[in-house]
Order: sequence, then C-alpha cells, then structure tokens
Amino acid sequence: MTSHFDAVVIGAGAAGLMCAMEAGSRGKTVAVLDHADQPGRKILISGGGRANFTNLHCRPDNFLSSNPHFAKSALARFTPEDFLALVRKHRIPFHEKKLGQLFCDRSARDLLDMLLAECAEAGVQLFLGSSLSEITRPDGFHIRTSRQTFTAPALVVAAGGLSIPKIGATGIGYDIARQFGIKVIEPRAALVPLTFSARDLAQFQELSGVSTEVTASVEGQAFREKMLFTHRGLSGPAILQISSYWRQGGAIEIDFAPGEELFAPLRGRNARRDPASAEAALRSVLPQRLAARLIETAPPTGWTNAALDEAETRLHHWRFLPAGTEGFSKAEVTAGGVDTDALSARTMESRAVPGLYFIGEVVDVTGHLGGFNFQWAWASGAAAGRAL
Ligand code: FDA
Repeated sequence: MTSHFDAVVIGAGAAGLMCAMEAGSRGKTVAVLDHADQPGRKILISGGGRANFTNLHCRPDNFLSSNPHFAKSALARFTPEDFLALVRKHRIPFHEKKLGQLFCDRSARDLLDMLLAECAEAGVQLFLGSSLSEITRPDGFHIRTSRQTFTAPALVVAAGGLSIPKIGATGIGYDIARQFGIKVIEPRAALVPLTFSARDLAQFQELSGVSTEVTASVEGQAFREKMLFTHRGLSGPAILQISSYWRQGGAIEIDFAPGEELFAPLRGRNARRDPASAEAALRSVLPQRLAARLIETAPPTGWTNAALDEAETRLHHWRFLPAGTEGFSKAEVTAGGVDTDALSARTMESRAVPGLYFIGEVVDVTGHLGGFNFQWAWASGAAAGRAL
C-alpha cells in the first residue's frame, strides 16, 4: 500500500511533533513515522518526569555546535515565549525551578498530550511501530517501512541522537544524512557523568553520594553548580554541563570552593597550623567526608605561608583526568551530528538535497542543561514546519 503526503516526518519526538503540527496547521498533509509504539518517550522521562521544557534565558551561547551562529535564526524566530503561549493555551500548570528553567507542575505527560492534541487538530497522521526499510528519491521521496510505503516531496528527519538506546534511540538520522552525501560530525555522549581512573576511584569511591558546589572548567568554559561523587566517578549539574565540552584524554579543572579562602583560619597571628586545624578549616566550607578525604590524600606539604598558598591553589585548581564517560546509555543528549554547513539556518533544509530537512538533536546543535535542548527541538521543528 502506498500513501502520499506533502511531508513525511521520521521521529515522533519533540522536534518531529512540533514540525508536524506547524506544517499541518498551515494546511499540509503530514505523516509522522516512528519505530516505537508510543510517541514522545523521551519527553515523558525528561526532567525527572516533569520535563524542563524551556528556559526563559535562552541565548545562542547556551548551545554548542561546530558553527556557533547556526542556531541563532531558528531560536530567534521561535522563542521560549512562543512555546509558553502554547502551554498556556492548553492550561498546563508550570513553575520556574531555578535559573529560568520551566517545568510542568504535574507531569511531562501534559506536554506530550498538548503536542498530540495540536497534531490531531492539524490533521497530522501518526504511524507508530513503523520500521524503516528503505528511502529512495526517484521523484520526491519514497519511504518504505515494515507496514507500507509513503511518497512525499519533503522528508523531515527528526530521529534524535544516540542517547538512551533502551527507549528507542538509533543512529538512523545519521545514516540518512550519509546516504544523501551529507557530512555527520562524529556523535559523542554529552550531558553525561564522567568516570574515574583506577587511581581516583581508589581515592574517591567511598565519597559516593557527597555533593558540593564547585566550578568545573575546561577550555575557557566554566560552570558553577553542584558536583556529585558517584560510585564510578563524578556527576551533578556542574559535571554534566562540562562533559559536553570535554574530549577524551583532556583534563577538567575543579575549584572545590569557589570564592572561598579555605585555609584563612590558619592565617591569623596566633592560629594553630597542624593537620587537625587544616581539616577543621576545610570542614567549615566543604562536606565533612570530602574535607577529610582531601586532607588525607593531599595535605599541605608544610605550614609556612608558601605551603598553605600551594595547598590552597591545589584545591581551587584540582586537575581531574576522567577515564571516560558513562556513555550513551546515561547521556542526556548526543553532541555532534548532521553538519550545520549542509543546512539552511532558516529552514533546516539540506542545501544539496531539496526537500530533505533535519531537525532537533540529530543536528550538530547541543544545548546546555536546563531546558535548552527542548527549546532547540521546538525552534528547529517550527523552522522546518513553517517552510514545508
Ligand atoms: P527524540 O529523541 O525526542 O525523538 C526521536 C524520535 O525518533 C523517537 O521517538 C524515536 O523513537 C524515533 N526514532 C529513532 N530511531 C528511529 C528509527 N530507526 N525509525 C523510526 N523512528 C526512530 N532536554 C531538556 O531540554 N529538558 C529536560 O528536562 C530534558 N531531560 C532529559 C532527560 C533524559 C533522561 C534524557 C535522555 C534527555 C533529556 N533531555 C532534556 C533532552 C531532550 O529529551 C532531547 O534533546 C529531545 O527529546 C530531542 O528531541 P528530538 O525530537 O530531536 O529527539
């Protein structure tokens, strides 16, 4: 059986549904295909089940890409306020958690229901449980699935990245790009916990569960947020954020006490200078277990001012050499992806293959933690949906 549509969208996730409802509401006939038997599974698990669906302070520098200018146009033409207008229209209760991060009060299900309702109203047809077998382009696109064949002058690839394969992530979006001669920037796990080397594991494993505010930095990027010790390495917002910038083999610098002078209590004229007072000084700023471990593993080498200066510097510039990341099974997003040089920044259409569009996470645009990845999915989806 063959069905004809104005556009076929591959992927019923955040970007695909947004694109389909925009195009459908402009009178286009749209089919959305997904191999999963439910749409929007990632939306449902996002933000701990409450979806951090946008960020009020969204700026282009909240995104990584080989071309840092690429996302600007789409982000400017579909803003967090535009998405909020939809959320308000559907009377979905939400709140700002911190730093402009907006979450559903009840459940991410509200958001998915909203997108599905908009798609239904726009006449979008969903084809779930559809495994792709072949895409050809004799005259327009022919998309063959396990169930039927679709023909359309436009094909939108919204198949996401490689993160969380157990809920349906595949590399199909990258395969389609390569099939049409479009370059893919090597995909890599981002917003992901980092693992300890054997030496660090022996020193820090028992701190699992300890959390403290740090500044984590690499190559001029710095994030001051909470860091969490895990039984395998480091996590928490500061580490997830910096992981997107980290490359295998590189070091991350950790400031354990941003803005604090840890050994200040030892500097007074009559202050005691010994291991106990050094540990007490650290305990007044850092979690107890962390303070004890740092004094044990890296005590001041003496009690002169120079030795205290050196110990102080070390704790503000701790050099962490991760062994690796916890990989795509734990990564919140995939960095890298379809090369933005191959796409129009206004419409997301391929420059070389008219009618072929890439949107959302499959594109080499990756947001910081805090609602930015959804905002990119909405903005890039809307950009393509309006252009179809
Ligand atoms: P998405 O992955 O949503 O959708 C892709 C769709 O394509 C899926 O439905 C998939 O089944 C389908 N597909 C894949 N392969 C296919 C194939 N071979 N054939 C057919 N269909 C196929 N971001 C944020 O801003 N705020 C947040 O709170 C969170 N929280 C969060 C938590 C967790 C645990 C994760 C893993 C991720 C987040 N994110 C997030 C990131 C956010 O979920 C992500 O960036 C967007 O969902 C990307 O939207 P896309 O539509 O591009 O891909």
